[in-house]
Amino acid sequence: MTTNRTFTMIKPDAVENGHIGAILDKINAGGFRIVAMKMTQMTKRDAESFYAIHKERPFFGELVSFMTRGPIVAAILEKDNAVEDFRALIGATNPAEAAEGTIRKLYATSIGENAVHGSDSDENAAIEGAFHFAGREMF
Ligand code: RTP
Ligand code: MG
Repeated sequence: MTTNRTFTMIKPDAVENGHIGAILDKINAGGFRIVAMKMTQMTKRDAESFYAIHKERPFFGELVSFMTRGPIVAAILEKDNAVEDFRALIGATNPAEAAEGTIRKLYATSIGENAVHGSDSDENAAIEGAFHFAGREMF
């Protein structure tokens, strides 16, 4: 499916490890335009709501504590076929299985602490973007 926008977060591990600049370079080199961007920190309530789809999964508690332990960089990105192309740029959930040159292969440390988020559908991209940004913060 062709989509124009996706939503991403540079996760706390990548922020802690000093990879914000390198990841933004990969996003620019991948042909994405930054529509909205901010550094922020999710509360427990934010993370439980953002990841509600995973609430029955065994890793849910770990995911919420990881995503709230430090700041993230949230962004909305625009490009033809944005959702699919961004998932290709970040690579597989588990960095051990991610293709060479992908953001997760380069900067993730484990399946749980995997450096970046990328929306998995056009519908979720819109929901996730609206979770983090007001209309007046989108350019
Ligand atoms: P994301 O939503 O962050 O872009 O990642 P994804 O689609 O590749 O993976 P998803 O299945 O949606 O999982 C969401 C996040 O939960 C953590 N996770 N931990 N310990 C584990 O086995 C495990 N599995 C998933 C990761 O942070 C993953 O990105
Ligand atoms: Mg996902």
